[in-house]
Amino acid sequence: MKITLRVWRQNGPAERGRLVAYEVDGVTPDMSFLEVLDVLNERLALTDGEPIAFDHDCREGICGTCGVVIDGIAHGPESAVTTCQLYMRSFADGAVIDVEPWRAAPFPVIKDLVVDRSAFDRIIAAGGYVSAPAGAAPDAHAVAVPRTDADRAFEAATCIGCGACVAACPNGSAMLFAGAKVSHLGRLPQGQPERASRALTMITQHDDEGFGACTQIGECTAVCPKEIPLDVISRFDRDILSALTQGDR
Ligand code: SF4
Ligand code: FES
Repeated sequence: MKITLRVWRQNGPAERGRLVAYEVDGVTPDMSFLEVLDVLNERLALTDGEPIAFDHDCREGICGTCGVVIDGIAHGPESAVTTCQLYMRSFADGAVIDVEPWRAAPFPVIKDLVVDRSAFDRIIAAGGYVSAPAGAAPDAHAVAVPRTDADRAFEAATCIGCGACVAACPNGSAMLFAGAKVSHLGRLPQGQPERASRALTMITQHDDEGFGACTQIGECTAVCPKEIPLDVISRFDRDILSALTQGDR
């Protein structure tokens, strides 16, 4: 296959960015999207060009560090995959593919396709923890948890913090991410002591970071590689309302 990548190049947060076109040949359908960027970067390095900066680590859909907007869709055209799990068989020979960083004010571009997602870390630090001594695995197993709650907590815990939900949301909201963290802890007995305060500190941090409000459009869940459902946001909203009506502020 021969493809053309039109890649967002931006030297730094204060620089103006632009799309730059690169032709890449020798692409095979079983190459991952990131491998194509690797091939292009090798070529750029050998020809005194500046390699394209992009984030990646596990390349197995686990760490959440990769993630770019491909032809206008966060993580590209396939559903429920991260950018590192996207393969070139999803594209036609001769395709012209636009590659851009996450677009959201709280995720400023550091360089090219790399954005600063530390706003997510600060939302977690604001309330994404439990104070109950949870012990080791055998102790955790000694606390009976209804099967539905355990399954829903696990489902929410699969959020990898990639940020695609924010990139896809027209409001730039991070409510799917924050809702997943709140649901994961709030479904379990160990998460109950801070349940009310957690909802308030995390929504406050979310808003302070500049993320927008959720209007239940659903673009977030459509691009989420872990298929986090929209109802984590409703649950988060209920926890916020309940905390406010308890006067816990
Ligand atoms: S909710 Fe989904 S899209 Fe958003 S950060 Fe978590 S895994 Fe990524
Ligand atoms: S590189 Fe880890 S999820 Fe893609």
